[in-house]
Amino acid sequence: MKALVYHGPGNKAWEEKPRPVVLQPTDAVVRITKTTICGTDLHILKGDVPKVTDGRILGHEGVGVIEEVGAAVTGFKAGDRVIISCISSCGKCNYCKNGMYSHCENGGWILGHLIDGTQAEYVRIPFADNSLYHIPPGSDEEALVMLSDILPTGFECGVLNGQVKPGDTVAIVGAGPIGLATLLTAQFYSPAEIIMIDLDDNRLEVSKKFGATQVINSANENAIAKVKELTAGKGVDVAIEAVGVAASFVLCQMLVAPGGHIANIGVHGKSVELHLETLWSQNITITTRLVDTVTTPLLLKTVQSKKLSPSKLITHHFKLSDIIRAYDVFSNAGREKALKVILNNE
Ligand SMILES: NC(=O)c1ccc[n+]([C@@H]2O[C@H](COP(=O)([O-])OP(=O)(O)OC[C@H]3O[C@@H](n4cnc5c(N)ncnc54)[C@H](O)[C@@H]3O)[C@@H](O)[C@H]2O)c1
Ligand SMILES: [Zn+2]
Ligand SMILES: [Zn+2]
Repeated sequence: MKALVYHGPGNKAWEEKPRPVVLQPTDAVVRITKTTICGTDLHILKGDVPKVTDGRILGHEGVGVIEEVGAAVTGFKAGDRVIISCISSCGKCNYCKNGMYSHCENGGWILGHLIDGTQAEYVRIPFADNSLYHIPPGSDEEALVMLSDILPTGFECGVLNGQVKPGDTVAIVGAGPIGLATLLTAQFYSPAEIIMIDLDDNRLEVSKKFGATQVINSANENAIAKVKELTAGKGVDVAIEAVGVAASFVLCQMLVAPGGHIANIGVHGKSVELHLETLWSQNITITTRLVDTVTTPLLLKTVQSKKLSPSKLITHHFKLSDIIRAYDVFSNAGREKALKVILNNE
């Protein structure tokens, strides 16, 4: 089969690899029909995720059709159409039993990281019963690709950890796919205001269409002053970090009101200053989280009932065999006005 293979920082190739087979009785092999590229794949290609080794097939998102299942898989059979979760979870360890699939002792985020991933014609999925979801008949399958990672990430790490409530004022720093997924899912709770902050005018325009009540381009406006002006000097109830750089986490600390919440989503490669000299008395909480994907079934229902329309996040389509070109577009998201790209293998 063909697959997108990592060959060290800056190097990748679309090349021939052996087709995966069932190795454990709990495995399934899935023929990929649609996959996508994540900001995290770009982090890997920059060399930021050193556990990814030469020869690894990248990708941790996608939908497909089951080709083969191991003897212990009971919930799926060959021919079933499935959503692949970016988190593989055994369902049996203490972390899984507590709903913290991301820290599964036998899995977690392994796809396209520690084992071969989804940017390929076929992928092996460990613990298939707990890591795949059935696609309801008649679904818009490319919209469901957004359920592999970005929607549960925005919802769990941003909205749920930030405890967004009706009437809240929320600031989301970063209007990439993750920040926009946070913007969409925050609206389940009817916050009064959602302020999106980014450096890219196009993404801020998109944010307005997706329900942001205010947008701030922090490249040419003082975001702290503007947020204070919009909140009668108080700051926001919830500040969500969806970038993964020090400046945006520091900005969240400046924006949060007394009693508020800072919810970090971004993957940070460098240490960040924590301003306890001002925050110690402010009754705030700070949360961090690796997406658990425990909310995938709930989010799937909201997509089916059209309360959530994730296809809005898709800007580009390519054939899977054109993945090198798709990476080029996705890596120049500003220039290309790209959000999520869909790679088709049908
Ligand atoms: N916690 C998790 O489980 C989890 C899961 C998936 C992704 N992530 C992380 O979430 C983050 C966002 O992902 P994405 O795919 O949307 O990334 P992205 O790079 O597409 O988007 C980031 C956005 O932040 C903006 N930005 C950059 N610097 C900024 C600044 N100083 N102030 C304001 N905006 C700024 C950029 O213009 C861009 O629109 C990444 O760090 C990613 O690795 C975390
Ligand atoms: Zn991802
Ligand atoms: Zn587990």
